[in-house]
Amino acid sequence: MPKIILTTHQKGGVGKSTLTFNMASTLRNEVKTAIVDLDLQGSLYKSRANSEIPVFTSEYLNQIQSSDFDFIFIDTPPYLTDKLPKLCQMADAILIPTKAGVYDLLAIEETIKIIKQVGKEDKTMIVFNMVKPNTTLTAEMREALQNYDIPVANTHISDLVAFTRSSIHNGITDAKAKNQIEELTMEVLKLVQK
Ligand SMILES: Nc1ncnc2c1ncn2[C@@H]1O[C@H](COP(=O)(O)OP(=O)(O)OP(=O)(O)O)[C@@H](O)[C@H]1O
Ligand SMILES: [Mg+2]
Repeated sequence: MPKIILTTHQKGGVGKSTLTFNMASTLRNEVKTAIVDLDLQGSLYKSRANSEIPVFTSEYLNQIQSSDFDFIFIDTPPYLTDKLPKLCQMADAILIPTKAGVYDLLAIEETIKIIKQVGKEDKTMIVFNMVKPNTTLTAEMREALQNYDIPVANTHISDLVAFTRSSIHNGITDAKAKNQIEELTMEVLKLVQK
């Protein structure tokens, strides 16, 4: 049965699709990896021609348990779907990307509520994405997040053009971006094994 990694946050534009795609790309040469794109906008499904990773739509959820992939990354839309509790239950790890902004952190609350309702907080991790250089904001936000009792990834993902380009270049070549995404993927894999 595949290990399922869910990326979710009800807020739009925080990097759910970008991180999903790049984590899957990191693993694709080592293990059998696929993506399920649940967003009706379908960024990952629509750009699947650029990718060596199979990308499926929501229908695939019905056969996910019997599929022979090692890892399946699920990308979710920027709103709370009624499917979210069930998806969280299925997941072996849940990643919540967020920008280090006050409004972004306020928006995280509803997503965390659902995760806690299904008792998956110990399988969940928040990750700061699009972190700007030379800012203490992320440290302040990290402190603010302590109230939620959800771990925050040690890896911060920087605001780098390489991430924007990644979807059209089938993964990342930029060394800094590559290193960050590899470290994040390792942290997520630890969560899966926990
Ligand atoms: N670390 C990063 N550095 C630079 N640009 C980034 C980074 N992460 C994401 N982006 C860019 O930010 C935009 C939003 O990212 P993305 O589409 O992955 O967010 P999302 O959470 O999936 O959005 P939506 O909720 O609309 O599906 C995209 O243009 C993407 O290329
Ligand atoms: Mg998206």
